[in-house]
Amino acid sequence: MDSATSLPFTLSPNASPVTAQQRAQILANPGFGRVFTDNMVVIRYQEGRGWHDARVQPFAPLALNPACAVLHYAQEIFEGMKAYRTAESGITLFRPYANAARFAKSAARLAMPEVPEEVFVEAVRQLVRVDHAWVPGKPDESLYIRPFMIANETFLGVKPASEYLFMVIASPVGAYFGEEAVSVWVSDFCRAAPGGTGEAKCGGNYAASLLAQQEAKGHGCAQVLFLDAVERRWIEEMGGMNVFFVFDDGSLATPPLTGTILRGITRDSLLTLARAQGLTVREEPYAIDQLYADAASGRLKEVFACGTAAVVSPIGRFRGPKGDAVVGKGQGIGPVTAKLRSALIAIQRGTAPDPHNWVEKVI
Ligand code: PLP
Ligand code: COI
Repeated sequence: MDSATSLPFTLSPNASPVTAQQRAQILANPGFGRVFTDNMVVIRYQEGRGWHDARVQPFAPLALNPACAVLHYAQEIFEGMKAYRTAESGITLFRPYANAARFAKSAARLAMPEVPEEVFVEAVRQLVRVDHAWVPGKPDESLYIRPFMIANETFLGVKPASEYLFMVIASPVGAYFGEEAVSVWVSDFCRAAPGGTGEAKCGGNYAASLLAQQEAKGHGCAQVLFLDAVERRWIEEMGGMNVFFVFDDGSLATPPLTGTILRGITRDSLLTLARAQGLTVREEPYAIDQLYADAASGRLKEVFACGTAAVVSPIGRFRGPKGDAVVGKGQGIGPVTAKLRSALIAIQRGTAPDPHNWVEKVI
């Protein structure tokens, strides 16, 4: 790594932030990812010089050279994490070093320079501190934080760039899904193949998922489920979240981390919480045909999606070329899902003890 593990930040925040009244209006109904805070963090990288020029500055459009590498070869990675307002009006982050570590792994896979974990987390802290008034306080709300890195070298040859921008932006958000169990479309398209970039959080994976997601919407489904690219049989993950299954014996299963799915931090946290609740949990392959059979026989009791944006959201129905599979009654949230969801949210929002030291206080 050719840069220091910590950097000085120059603070030149927005001198004309939105008024408290405008902000209150925006926060009354934030939606998801449509509005942004007053500031952003920008850190530059140059080969030979490393990470430098770390700034908190006004949120504003970027001026990019039309020949800059990210616009042509998609050398881009990102993270998704949240800041929460606690009952005591403090502000916390959930497992930010796990995001920093995953970002470093994504960087390595895309031949990009790693942002030192401490620099990554400090950049997030700096933005949350300066924009703390934007962290909403209602139960389903939070400040969604999007750290990302782009290749910024002006050059049309195909090679890893020699210049990068690391940035952090933030958006106050409400719930990603409504209360009701969602329907999921089982896609014929593949998202990731062995040896590919499925495990990295890079924009290209999401670009590859959009047509499938569009198809899902066309079939009245909120999300798409991807199967493995080799046998087209094993359930992998959804477009933007991992997936768990709850069986009639009370056990839980989720697809294993084989390199083609994202190592979800929510997934990992729920595995820990489920084991602490005494549940039997398996990380094992689950075939789509078995899902259809188990839904029909009643062996499959609950299914849920999990991720930073989705938190824990029940799935009521699968639709696909092979027809419909209804899980349980096809609606509402099952008891195992509900208990895990409450346990996670209680830790994230500081209303329960944090035995795993997952919560980082910012303010
Ligand atoms: N899988 C994909 C493809 C995602 O985009 C996400 C969201 O970040 C997840 C899984 C869940 O990961 P996490 O729980 O770390 O947010
Ligand atoms: C996240 O949960 O952070 C994601 O990246 C998923 C996306 C659906 C917003």
